[in-house]
This record gives sequence, C-alpha cells and structure tokens, in this order.
Amino acid sequence: MKKIGVLTSGGDSPGMNAAIRATVRKAKALGLDVVGINSGYEGCLVGDFRELDLKDVGGIIEEGGTMLRSKRAPEFKEKEERAKAIRNFHQEGVEGVIVIGGDGTLRGAKALNREGIPTVCVPATIDNDIYGTDMTIGVDTCLNTVVESIDRIRTTASALERTFIVEVMGRDSGYIALMGGLSGGAEQILIPEVDYDLEKVAKEIYDGYKRGKQHMIVVVAEGIYKEGSAAHHVGQNLKKQIGFEVRVTVLGHMQRGGNPSAFDRGIASRLGAEAVTTLSEGESGVMLGLQGHNIETVDYSEVLSNEKKIDMELYELAQTLAQ
Ligand code: F6P
Repeated sequence: MKKIGVLTSGGDSPGMNAAIRATVRKAKALGLDVVGINSGYEGCLVGDFRELDLKDVGGIIEEGGTMLRSKRAPEFKEKEERAKAIRNFHQEGVEGVIVIGGDGTLRGAKALNREGIPTVCVPATIDNDIYGTDMTIGVDTCLNTVVESIDRIRTTASALERTFIVEVMGRDSGYIALMGGLSGGAEQILIPEVDYDLEKVAKEIYDGYKRGKQHMIVVVAEGIYKEGSAAHHVGQNLKKQIGFEVRVTVLGHMQRGGNPSAFDRGIASRLGAEAVTTLSEGESGVMLGLQGHNIETVDYSEVLSNEKKIDMELYELAQTLAQ
C-alpha cells in the first residue's frame, strides 16, 4: 500500500481533527502518502481530494469541527453512485480509506470495503451510540459542555426556585442525557430507552418542592419526543401542579462545538494512528473500538448488527442520587 485516503462524515464531533492529524502523521511515519477527502462521501463522488503532508495537520489538534469538512451524503447509499467514488479512488491511486464518523459513516465504509476499496473506521460521534466501542471521539467534550451548562442553569434555577427542562442531543440514544444528567446532578433524566410517565415525573417534582428543594433540573434527550421539541413538550406538560415555575433550555448544536477535551484528543490520536497500522497491515472491514484501556478491531457486520445498550445500573444510580 502506497497511498491512503482519510475522510470525516456525518455530524462532526470534537476530536475529529486530532484523528485526522494522527492518521496523516502515522501514515507518513510508515512511508505512505495521504490524501484528504473533502466533505465526506460527497468528496469521494466528485473526486474532491487533496494531498496532506505533515505540516498540513499542524495546529489542529486543539480545534473542534473538522478541517476536511463533513456532510451527510444520502446518495452514497446507491451502488451506482459508489461506483463513481471507486473510479475516483483508482484514478487517484488511493488503495484504502480511513473513515472517521458515526453509524451512517460506518454503513458507507462497509459498502466501499465490500466493493473493493479497503476501509477502516474510527468511531466519532457525540452520541456514543456505536456498538463495539466504550467511547466514541467527541462524547467526552460534549458531556463537559452539557455539565457546565447544567451547573450554570442550576444557579439561576435555585435563585428563583424553578424547574428547568434541559434538552440535550441524542436522536435515538439517551447516552448524553444519562451521563450528562448523572454528572450534572439532575433530579430527573428522560431518555428514549426508558418509558416515562409525565404524571409521575410531575409528582416527584412536586414532592421535591414540598421537601424544600430549591430547584429541579430535568434533563431530556431530544429523542424522547419525535413530533417537535422534547423539552417544550415536557415543559408544557409539567407546568401544571408542580409548585415550581418552569423554564426550558435547549442546548442544541453548542454540544457539538468547542475544543476537544484531553480525553478526546487522546483517544483520537490513538485510534487514528492504529487505523493506519491496521490498514497498512492488510486488515480492513473493521472499526477500531476502545474497550477498557485497549483498542480492539471489530468487524463492521458485528458493529452494525448490534445495538449499544444503555447501562441501566447507571440510570438507577442517577435516580438514587437525585433524592
Ligand atoms: O451528531 C449526532 C447528532 O448530534 C444527533 O444527536 C442529532 O440528532 C443530530 O446529530 C443532529 O444533527 P444535524 O443537525 O447535523 O442534523
């Protein structure tokens, strides 16, 4: 193998740049050329490639977002479209690609691998919803943002004795809400994986109010309600009979922004470099997962046919500690 490509795809996450840097620098150390593919799979389709050298990835380890830009490219699901990408790779002499992203990215990588372009995936999404890895790149930074936001909200909530509904990201997964709520000391956490009963939530808030609580923080994952804003839906329902006044805060895309934490830079550096080693040694069709302190390879089919489960013990712990 002489030349590899690297791309970032789907929702960006803090630490993607650190992973790109690690990919390029490790590849150079192994004597490989690297091309950066702009705008994810869209760049594969139109051949938007650029050579990346050591200096091109200088000064990016601390930056959020992705220097290669990212896109969601639904057309990449079509085999005829992917054939264009494969032609572009052959023309450019790209013999393997490292893809950095979440589950949609993995599906594209699996198809490319099957159709003749070896790929290795580095899991990066703030949702941390990918089977086979304990942590994805970006979720730690996201959680720090969520916890800092909850801390700030709590001060004003206490001052005015209010309940705040704080909506966090997670279209299908409650990981951010669970860990953000646990670490932020939320009184209630509502996630898509667990049925909720707003009457029960209202009663618990009312009981807390009666016990003399100064505030209530209810963290809700955006995915608990599909017909609009989850936080506003919950807020509207709780307004009646809870004692406290209710305010709603939707954290939104600020959760995806900002400089990556030390943890995210660390795993991005390790996973990016290991992806190059894996590809250069002839292994492909795998994601690199962080399992405990180790990096393991996991077949795409295993990753994509399994669902990462929420740790219910942590959910129960959060409930116990919220009394
Ligand atoms: O990055 C993952 C994610 O944050 C989901 O939790 C969220 O639903 C989605 O991306 C929103 O992304 P976009 O605004 O890019 O559609």
